[in-house]
Amino acid sequence: MKADIITLFPDMVATVAATSMLGRAQEAALLDLSVTDLREFGLGGYRRVDDSPYGGGPGMVFRPEPVYAAVETATNRAGAPCRLLMPSPQGRVFDQPMAEELAAEARPLVFLCGHYEGVDQRILDGLGFEEVSVGDYVLTGGELPALIMLDAAARLIPGVLGNDASPEEDCFSAAAAGILKFPQYTRPAEFRGMGVPQVLLSGHHREIEAWRREQALAATRSKRPDLLVDGAGGEEG
Ligand SMILES: C[S@@+](CC[C@H](N)C(=O)[O-])C[C@H]1O[C@@H](n2cnc3c(N)ncnc32)[C@H](O)[C@@H]1O
Repeated sequence: MKADIITLFPDMVATVAATSMLGRAQEAALLDLSVTDLREFGLGGYRRVDDSPYGGGPGMVFRPEPVYAAVETATNRAGAPCRLLMPSPQGRVFDQPMAEELAAEARPLVFLCGHYEGVDQRILDGLGFEEVSVGDYVLTGGELPALIMLDAAARLIPGVLGNDASPEEDCFSAAAAGILKFPQYTRPAEFRGMGVPQVLLSGHHREIEAWRREQALAATRSKRPDLLVDGAGGEEG
């Protein structure tokens, strides 16, 4: 996977991207991530990237010239037509199917992290950015959403997670069919008066599987009943 994050805060992105799974994916050459500093494309001595909105109103808006120059630099560096993604609270809501879509994407990904009030509409229209939201709330900038999307997609690339971790078993994967995970336990078998369900210590694989299925459905019913409305798990109406 090839990706570029265009941001006013390259250190913030680079620090997170160098840590844990995203860092390991890059070390293993399974993720080729560049970070483009939008400020380098700013205008004038102060390298301005924004201006006040036409028509008035609060906040500042990204100007098109620096963003076009940064996107052109990122796409030239990628050497292929890119999929352009703009984190935005007004976009399509990001979910696991979209993470799977991005993991399978042949085109390099370019994320443009917004800040302040937003971006000049000609950036979205003229360059063909897709707006993608990480939920119905407003963050300060697009850096965290871009990293969320990249993390969710990169961990699905074969080889990124260790051998003993299987993204197919995660909740929200296609295989999970809309039900949450069953509760997990590890050693010790007794901790501060709390035990482990006997069935998990029994060694009876079929019974363990049945217990886990029942627990997963119970967890979904109590925590996310909305997931069951379409008959997920084949049992609810
Ligand atoms: C303060 S927000 C701008 C919010 C804008 N005034 C609005 O109401 O849509 C600044 C930037 O943060 C990012 N952002 C904020 N909330 C987000 C969300 N829920 N999903 C994705 N990106 C978000 C976007 O890149 C956005 O351009």
